[in-house]
Amino acid sequence: MTFNPLRERGIPLDRQVRNWRELDVTPIDPDHADPYTRCRIITMNGIEIESIMFSHHFARRCPDLGVRQRLAEVRYVEQQQQKAVNWLLPGLASVLETTIAYEQVAVDLTAWVARMEPDPYLRKAYEFGVLEDFDHLYRYANLYEMIEHRKAEKIVDQLTEVMPGRPTKMHHRHPVDNVREHYDREKAKPVSKLHALTIMSAEQQTMNFYMNVGPTYMEPIARQLYQEIGLIEEEHVTHYESLLDPRETWWEQWLNHEYNECYLYHSFMETESDPKVKAIWELHLNMELEHLRIAADLFREHDGRDPEQLLAPTLPTPVTFEPNTGYLRELISTQIDHTTLGTGYVQEAHERFQRWQEQIHDDVEPASERVIDDNRARSGEEYRLEIEGGHPLYSLRSH
Ligand SMILES: [Fe+2]
Ligand SMILES: [Fe+2]
Ligand SMILES: [Fe+2]
Ligand SMILES: [Fe+2]
Repeated sequence: MTFNPLRERGIPLDRQVRNWRELDVTPIDPDHADPYTRCRIITMNGIEIESIMFSHHFARRCPDLGVRQRLAEVRYVEQQQQKAVNWLLPGLASVLETTIAYEQVAVDLTAWVARMEPDPYLRKAYEFGVLEDFDHLYRYANLYEMIEHRKAEKIVDQLTEVMPGRPTKMHHRHPVDNVREHYDREKAKPVSKLHALTIMSAEQQTMNFYMNVGPTYMEPIARQLYQEIGLIEEEHVTHYESLLDPRETWWEQWLNHEYNECYLYHSFMETESDPKVKAIWELHLNMELEHLRIAADLFREHDGRDPEQLLAPTLPTPVTFEPNTGYLRELISTQIDHTTLGTGYVQEAHERFQRWQEQIHDDVEPASERVIDDNRARSGEEYRLEIEGGHPLYSLRSH
């Protein structure tokens, strides 16, 4: 099926505003919902937040009153969309349960994007990053068992494995080594730009979440683990945002944002199992088509180019949440000991990496290590969810 968002008609902007009744969405059932429905909700919340913050930044740099007013109008709708989407999450979930779901999104969304990404340098950036969020999932799952006495399979189900990835302790790199080379806006495939925007938005939402919820815990180990992983999410945002070409004009960036929203709502509409949630994806797609039309008109007027030159003629393969177990196991067995040096990747620890490690750890075991030892001591064994057999690396098998 081909779908060209530039050719479709959406809902006129003045009819997109919702009243309180329409905003009061029914949350998903925490016990029976498809875990991937929750993943889609979290993804779209991250996308809407990025669209809002992007629009604010644009408005702050834009001297044209008419455009600032247009941005404010569209942004108000994006805010309502964000509310409708994120309020689908049930209030019963603890912060740690939401955290585990965020890391599941990071794992399965990034793995899918890595599998689909045509550009080898960009693909490597996703392969590299996914092994870290995979390890965060394992650390948080152990914290969850230790302080809430529950098992992460209640959240991730049998869809995403929980076991060590690249050890969290090794994620602390010199900030200089987190900046990647950006794609070339003239040469990159449209789908590559969408991938980069999507993963950047997801990681940014995780970073923001940990910055705020970390100190709501009383347990020292929880507070410390959120600080540690929160700093790594800063590295991840730096890593992924640096992939986008900074030479893209504001108009071009706005166009890409709206196009990406169309792409993702369309993808999730196609793959959603919950009919009530699917109806929201469909409604939002019809809103985004109009945002895209507005952004395209302003792009033509101010940027002087034709949007069709820039955007994909039809939507790429729908973004799909599905298990990536085999793919992740393959990455673990081949790339677990990778780190970054400048804008590239190396296998051995280098001098700048070592220095940073010494400075931040200073002979203290970080929370990401202690949480495993503590849980072993309290629960008898550490928590893992190994569905396809033992850990792919012999040295990381549980004994
Ligand atoms: Fe939106
Ligand atoms: Fe993470
Ligand atoms: Fe991350
Ligand atoms: Fe939008």
